[in-house]
Amino acid sequence: MSNKKIWFITGASRGMGVDFAKAVLAAGHAVVASGRDKDAVSKALGHSNDLLAVKLDVTRRADAEAAVRAAVDRFGRIDVLVNNAASFYAGYFEELTPEQIERQLATSVTRTVLPVMRKQRLGHIISISSSAGLVGFEFCTAYAASKFGLEGWMESLHAEVAPFGITTTIVNPGFFRTELLTEQSTNYAEPSIEDYDQRRAKQLEFWKGQNDQQAGDPAKLARALIIIANQEPPSRRFIAGADAIATAEQKVADLKAQIDANRDLSTSLAFERAPAA
Ligand SMILES: NC(=O)c1ccc[n+]([C@@H]2O[C@H](COP(=O)([O-])OP(=O)(O)OC[C@H]3O[C@@H](n4cnc5c(N)ncnc54)[C@H](OP(=O)(O)O)[C@@H]3O)[C@@H](O)[C@H]2O)c1
Repeated sequence: MSNKKIWFITGASRGMGVDFAKAVLAAGHAVVASGRDKDAVSKALGHSNDLLAVKLDVTRRADAEAAVRAAVDRFGRIDVLVNNAASFYAGYFEELTPEQIERQLATSVTRTVLPVMRKQRLGHIISISSSAGLVGFEFCTAYAASKFGLEGWMESLHAEVAPFGITTTIVNPGFFRTELLTEQSTNYAEPSIEDYDQRRAKQLEFWKGQNDQQAGDPAKLARALIIIANQEPPSRRFIAGADAIATAEQKVADLKAQIDANRDLSTSLAFERAPAA
């Protein structure tokens, strides 16, 4: 039996989605590479019989339905879904509009792929979270909310779909050198509250300064993803990059300290047992 898998990747027009698609093809699998601009996807990936480029804005349900239909028509199944597409809405919570926060949170692809995987009784859903899915950072309320939300959703979904042979992996990348911090992908809140002026200026300097300086190589992350997908069973979580591991280890230590600080108080909250008659 062939080990060739059919991957479906969102956000494959730029950034790590392109590296994921290239690595999948190089490993001998087939890929449905999706993006808001289908031509940009084709341009980034070239031609291959194992490649289908499709238009898909992940906030649009109709796009997702058409893209998944096209994938199944062409390849007959979907083995691995990579929820990768996202942009970065950066800014102080009070300066981000409710609409910006909604846009950061919106996605609808998994809902469309699940019936296919359920029918197959087989599938692997990989969702790209972030260090900001483990820890909240100043200036990152909307982004962290989307990634924390993704994590709670994926962990719960795993329990729901594992009986159908569908498994999940959360990936927490640290800083990787993609286009995420360019003007095309980062949307800064409009400055509107003077109280934040000084700190906002420092945050803007930091985030703009990180662009093109990130230590992580997305091509290496892409190859790591293939290794994770070939594991039996795949890891439920992959913390990607030395910086992400440092963040995760700090989170574990902080949680432990927070548990210990109030352990007695916390464990004293149950109803008193009625005395034995
Ligand atoms: N790079 C990092 O340091 C880093 C760290 C942690 C997590 N991540 C996560 O990694 C994932 C990929 O980001 P990246 O670093 O590769 O960023 P990127 O270079 O900016 O690429 C983002 C990709 O997502 C697509 N996209 C954005 N909104 C979309 C939508 N509504 N529908 C469809 N496609 C959409 C973009 O397509 P267009 O060309 O149409 O804009 C582009 O292909 C994201 O989930 C990000 O949060 C990145």
